Amino acid sequence: MRIGNTELKSGLILAPMAGFSDRAMRLTCRSYGAEYTVTEMVSAKAVTFGDKKTERIARIGDDEGAVALQLFGSEPDVLAKATEIMAGGVQGYAPPVAIDINMGCPVNKIFSNGEGSALMRDPDLICRIVRATVGATDLPVTVKLRAGVDREHINAVECALAAEEGGASAIALHGRTRVELYSGRADREIIANVNKSLHIPLIANGDITSAAEAIDMLRTTGADALMIGRGAIGNPFIFAEIKAALSGIEYTPPSVEERAECALAELRLAIEDKGERVAIPEARGRIAMYIRAFRGAAQIRAAVNRATSYSEVEYALHQAIINN
Ligand SMILES: Cc1cc2nc3c(=O)[nH]c(=O)nc-3n(C[C@H](O)[C@H](O)[C@H](O)COP(=O)(O)O)c2cc1C
Repeated sequence: MRIGNTELKSGLILAPMAGFSDRAMRLTCRSYGAEYTVTEMVSAKAVTFGDKKTERIARIGDDEGAVALQLFGSEPDVLAKATEIMAGGVQGYAPPVAIDINMGCPVNKIFSNGEGSALMRDPDLICRIVRATVGATDLPVTVKLRAGVDREHINAVECALAAEEGGASAIALHGRTRVELYSGRADREIIANVNKSLHIPLIANGDITSAAEAIDMLRTTGADALMIGRGAIGNPFIFAEIKAALSGIEYTPPSVEERAECALAELRLAIEDKGERVAIPEARGRIAMYIRAFRGAAQIRAAVNRATSYSEVEYALHQAIINN
């Protein structure tokens, strides 16, 4: 499938995740086979105000390959303006290959502002937002949706068609409602229904945590591509695992040493961008996922949680390699 000029071969995409899908995670996942990644969500309004923190989140490295920038907002003209500002990338950084609009975020603060998944209450507004955004850039515009706001209002087909009518180039769909947050299992039937209705590519998302789940998602939905979120936190290897399964190649899971060294490499990338003071506390949750299956995981986690410098984290993980 293609998103604008970007050709996807295996169709494996890293999901946008606030607090996670920064350059460090994107590059790490890319090195294991993610073909396309999406930034953490960025407020369109904050972009138009020139907010510095927002600009930092929107930075894309030259070494990153295909990265889409995700915006959230509710006003067509503000999203269009933010798109115009961001289409060339943050000054001194690489441009995104697409603009993705967040229409799935369930968080109260966002929803109560009429943003994220609240947009699914108004398919006409979805169409107007996409049309305005498409009119503001030569980049492809994609949309990320949920199944609906709640089980009584499952309207992903209608919303996806509204986005298509507005000129969207692809839709990513997380098969849960806003109310479900992350409970239960992503509904593959809804994803399949949306896929049948659309002319543009559909990216299936939700609960892909193994090659078996990935293949099941493709088989049950007919989706053009797969988007992986939580399953890639501390586990970028999932992209290699799925890629191997799709090509019928035998897959060898990473050793303890490879996992620990990969966690450290991801941390070094984060430190490069954010410095130790920010990167180390942020990395704790990710490292906990990297080492989850290690012998003595609780103790290693405690040591990592106490660490305030790279060398302390490195020491804890190297001890873990020795003890495993
Ligand atoms: C910590 C966290 C942060 C997220 N942030 C975003 C975000 O910024 N934009 C977005 O569209 N979705 C966001 N999501 C939703 C994911 O992109 C994805 O749709 C969801 O996690 C389901 O996929 P998964 O089961 O593969 O994790 C976030 C999810 C998590 C767990």
